[in-house]
Amino acid sequence: MTNAQARLQELQSAYQQIKARKLNLDLTRGKPATAQLDLSNALDGTLQGNYRCADGTDARNYGGGLGIPEARQFAADYLETRPAQVMVGGNSSLQLMYQYVANAHINGVKGADSAWSKEARDGQKVKFLCPAPGYDRHFSVCEALGIEMIPVAMTEEGPDMDQVEQLVKSDSLIKGIWCVPKYANPNGVVYSDAVVSRFAALAKIAGANFRIMWDNAYAEHHLVDNPPELANLLSLCEQQGTLDSAIVIGSTSKITFAGAGMAFIASSEANIKQFADYLGISTIGPDKVNQLRHVRFLKNMDGLRSLMQQHRAILQPKFERVLKHLDDSLAGKTVNGQPLGNWTRPQGGYFVLFDTQPGLADKVVKLCAEAGVKLTPAGSTWPYQRDPNNSNIRLAPSFPSLEEIDEAMAVFVLCVELASLEAA
Ligand SMILES: Cc1ncc(COP(=O)(O)O)c(C=O)c1O
Repeated sequence: MTNAQARLQELQSAYQQIKARKLNLDLTRGKPATAQLDLSNALDGTLQGNYRCADGTDARNYGGGLGIPEARQFAADYLETRPAQVMVGGNSSLQLMYQYVANAHINGVKGADSAWSKEARDGQKVKFLCPAPGYDRHFSVCEALGIEMIPVAMTEEGPDMDQVEQLVKSDSLIKGIWCVPKYANPNGVVYSDAVVSRFAALAKIAGANFRIMWDNAYAEHHLVDNPPELANLLSLCEQQGTLDSAIVIGSTSKITFAGAGMAFIASSEANIKQFADYLGISTIGPDKVNQLRHVRFLKNMDGLRSLMQQHRAILQPKFERVLKHLDDSLAGKTVNGQPLGNWTRPQGGYFVLFDTQPGLADKVVKLCAEAGVKLTPAGSTWPYQRDPNNSNIRLAPSFPSLEEIDEAMAVFVLCVELASLEAA
């Protein structure tokens, strides 16, 4: 028996023993842990009966479609822009993104003639560029609206901008691009200054009403002492005269309460007004009480950053534990002369991206599932769930405890090696 055959037998019997334990572990979604949510429990009761906003508005009543002034100021500081260019509304940035794209597609951003869907004639479709791997829910927005998705390669500095520019130049039906510019979901990439500058000029070579969906979900979600800086897309676009193309989004979902935070969107004043008017058809105003209690609780960027340090204290050990399992069990090991996998070491955000040897991601996910460890479905980081190499697996360490991470990662590394040896 060769060494590889002996190792395979050893792993197969270890796998059967794990299966018999009927584990029930979950590394799927990037949800904050209960201890993280507890950091913001003082939100409850912050207002103490004082519902007056800075401008005298009663937060309990209807109105205020753009958000209360102090929340707009807060969001402007967070998104590094001016309050006039910001709207605060709803509890979910994903909802704002869906509503923005749906409105641009169906109704238009400057009246009915500007609707993206109007340009799609002769069976053609409106298209979006999707740097991949990317965030599955961005892709679901396009899928739900019938917008065709074109994957774009990711580099260590952000999307491959040669490819992006060549595509938008050659097809005016490409109406937008999804971006997570800092600590990208799932590969942790932070876009370089050069990439952001090229984004600021993109609308000059794109078709009409092109939009960059700049989802800065992890702007302050650092895991390191000297976090990388992201160039300011809004101000670069302003310099280039392309401000209308920048749609910058954020939320407090992973700062305070994931289901009861506040979400914000920034762009040109005209864009923000048009979008707020559109939302005004379906609501007579956002939850201003939630906005007010958030601003009173977080206070300002200093308050927010000190809260994020407390998040980091909870999250960092979990990321380190995941990486320790990968380093200890997989680093330096090869099958067929190839490494068993590659993985990211994120400086922030919520995910570690693991790449199996080509063709094995779905098998590893299935083996883990049968051993009681749920992972995000293979392929979900790609448009239409089609990972061309079948190799990406997104690991989300935030929600489980350290003990659960230990158990789940022991199963994961075993399944990676088992799948690789079985396929050899
Ligand atoms: C890149 C990205 N954008 C948006 C969201 C969701 O944000 P929200 O809760 O504000 O809708 C997530 C959540 O995982 C995310 O990873």
